[in-house]
Amino acid sequence: MTNKAIIVNTGGGYDKVTVSTHIAAEPKSGEITVRLHANSLNYHDFAVVSGMWGPTEPRIPMADGAGVVTAVGDGVTEFAVGDHVVSTFFPTWVSGEPLVEGFATTPGDGVDGYAREVVTTTATGFTHAPKTWSHVESSTLTTAALTAWRALMSDDALKPGDTVLVQGTGGVSIFALQFAKMAGATVIATSSSDEKLEKLKALGADHLINYRKVLNWGEVAREITHNRGVDHVIEVGGPTTLNQSMLAARVGGHISVIGILTGLSGDFSIVTALIKQLRLQGLIVGNRTQQQDMIKAIDANKMRPIVDKVFPLENIVEAFRYQESNQHFGKICLEM
Ligand SMILES: NC(=O)c1ccc[n+]([C@@H]2O[C@H](COP(=O)([O-])OP(=O)(O)OC[C@H]3O[C@@H](n4cnc5c(N)ncnc54)[C@H](OP(=O)(O)O)[C@@H]3O)[C@@H](O)[C@H]2O)c1
Repeated sequence: MTNKAIIVNTGGGYDKVTVSTHIAAEPKSGEITVRLHANSLNYHDFAVVSGMWGPTEPRIPMADGAGVVTAVGDGVTEFAVGDHVVSTFFPTWVSGEPLVEGFATTPGDGVDGYAREVVTTTATGFTHAPKTWSHVESSTLTTAALTAWRALMSDDALKPGDTVLVQGTGGVSIFALQFAKMAGATVIATSSSDEKLEKLKALGADHLINYRKVLNWGEVAREITHNRGVDHVIEVGGPTTLNQSMLAARVGGHISVIGILTGLSGDFSIVTALIKQLRLQGLIVGNRTQQQDMIKAIDANKMRPIVDKVFPLENIVEAFRYQESNQHFGKICLEM
C-alpha cells in the first residue's frame, strides 16, 4: 500500500521539498509498523529542510513522529497493535553513555524520518507515548523535551530549591522551564519579547529578563540569586550568549551547551570557565531509557506541552517559514 511522504531532494532548500508516496514494508523480526499522525519541528529539522545542512541524497525529513502501532514483527514484546508511540532521536542508543557522533543514525537526517503516514522500523525507534496526550502533543517530545530532560535530570541532578536559567521561548527552553518547576526549582527566564515573558510567568517562571533590553542579563540573573549564581543554565543561544551564561552561573555551576541560534563558533572567556570551575557539557538530545524516564515523570505529574500552532503535513514549508519568523511560543507541529 502506498502512503504519503514528504521528500527533501539532495542539498535541501524549500524549492526541493515535494509531496510524494512511499511503500511501508511488513515488519520483520524486531520491527514495528506505525501509522504516524504528527511531527514536531526543530531547528535541526529546519537545517535539513532549508538546505543549511541539506541531505546528500533524497530524504524523508523530521526526527519527531508520533502515532499508533499497526503491526508488530516476531520477537517484539514491548508493543502491541493499538499502542500510542513516539519516536526516539537515536534508535540505536538505548542506554548508558553517548555512543553516536553526529546525526548519521538520526531519522530525518542520516536516515529517513517521519514526515510520512506510515513507517516500519526497529522497535527501538519508538517508546510508548504519555498516557493522556494527543499525537500532536506526543510528537513534541523526541528532540526538544528529551534535550531539556537530559540536561537537567541526567547530565546534572536538579534538586528542589536549585535555580535554573532558561533562554528564550523555543521548544527546549519551555520544556526546561516545565521540568525545572516540576522538580521544585526556581526559574529565571529570558525572552526578546515582553509579551512572551508574561506567558513564561503564567507557566511558573519566577524571574523574567528581556535579553534585548537588558544586555548584561547574565549579571542581572546572578544578582537575582544574591550573587551566588544559578546552578544550571540551558544554553541555546551559542556564541553570543555563552559569556553571559558563564557570568550567570555559580561557582561549579552546570551549563548545558545545547544551541547554536547565534552561530557555530565564537570567542568565549576560558578564564571565566576556569576561575568559576564551571561544568560546560555539550549534548545532543539523549538515549531511549532517558526518554522512557521522562515520559514516566510526565505521566506522574500530568504535565502537558506548549503547542503554538499545527500545520497539515503538506504545508511543511509554510510551517518552517513560521518557525523562522520567531513568532512562536513553544512547539510548532505537523498533522497527517
Ligand atoms: N543539542 C541538542 O541536542 C539540541 C536539541 C534541540 C535543539 N537544539 C538547539 O537549541 C536551539 C533552540 O532550539 P529550539 O528547538 O528550542 O528552537 P526554537 O523552538 O526555534 O526557539 C528559538 C527561540 O530561541 C530564542 N532565541 C533566539 N535567539 C536568542 C538569543 N540570542 N538569546 C536567547 N534566546 C534566543 C527565541 O525566543 P524569544 O522569541 O523568546 O526571544 C526563539 O523563539 C537551536 O539552536 C537548536 O539547534 C539542540
